[in-house]
Amino acid sequence: MSAAVSIRPAVARDLPALADLERDGFACPWSTAALEPCLRGDDHLMLVAETAGELGGFVLFLRLPEEAELLRMAVASPLRGRGLGAELVRAGLDRLAGEGRPVCHLEVRASNRAAIHLYERLGFRLAGARPGYYADGEEARLYRREGAGPPPG
Ligand SMILES: CC(C)(COP(=O)(O)OP(=O)(O)OC[C@H]1O[C@@H](n2cnc3c(N)ncnc32)[C@H](O)[C@@H]1OP(=O)(O)O)[C@@H](O)C(=O)NCCC(=O)NCCS
Repeated sequence: MSAAVSIRPAVARDLPALADLERDGFACPWSTAALEPCLRGDDHLMLVAETAGELGGFVLFLRLPEEAELLRMAVASPLRGRGLGAELVRAGLDRLAGEGRPVCHLEVRASNRAAIHLYERLGFRLAGARPGYYADGEEARLYRREGAGPPPG
């Protein structure tokens, strides 16, 4: 990842850019109205990657007692494959572990090879599957990560 990228918590002024990332990354994007509550209170952790004043990606976690769930993440199409997604997830996992949440789990579409590759590289392990979980009938894969995971790199 370029040294010019900084990772920080999302704030309200990021909402339009977050909605742009949603539209770029998902067939059913979340609106600013859906994203806004995730910035309030302590239930969620949302981190953004900023480069040259632009948002290049984000990751959203839900805080649960002693663990967390990775709900959503996206990186702008032109910036994918450069490690930005991994850097965002790593930063979130470090923060959550520091808060006493060393376990993280997530659901991902079985066809999402890029996301699955990223998660496995960061130490997530397949923990189950839910056939027909998504509205279009696709299977969800359940992944779980405990502890420190593999070293950075
Ligand atoms: C998933 C996503 C966030 C990854 O972001 P990213 O910045 O490209 O992630 P990284 O560059 O850190 O890692 C991606 C890895 O997947 C690999 N990859 C990319 N496309 C792949 C594919 N089709 N099959 C297998 N691996 C693939 C990359 O080579 C890279 O692996 P490497 O680091 O070992 O080379 C991005 O693809 C995205 O925004 N997708 C749309 C939204 C989405 O699917 N979000 C996840 C579900 S919530």
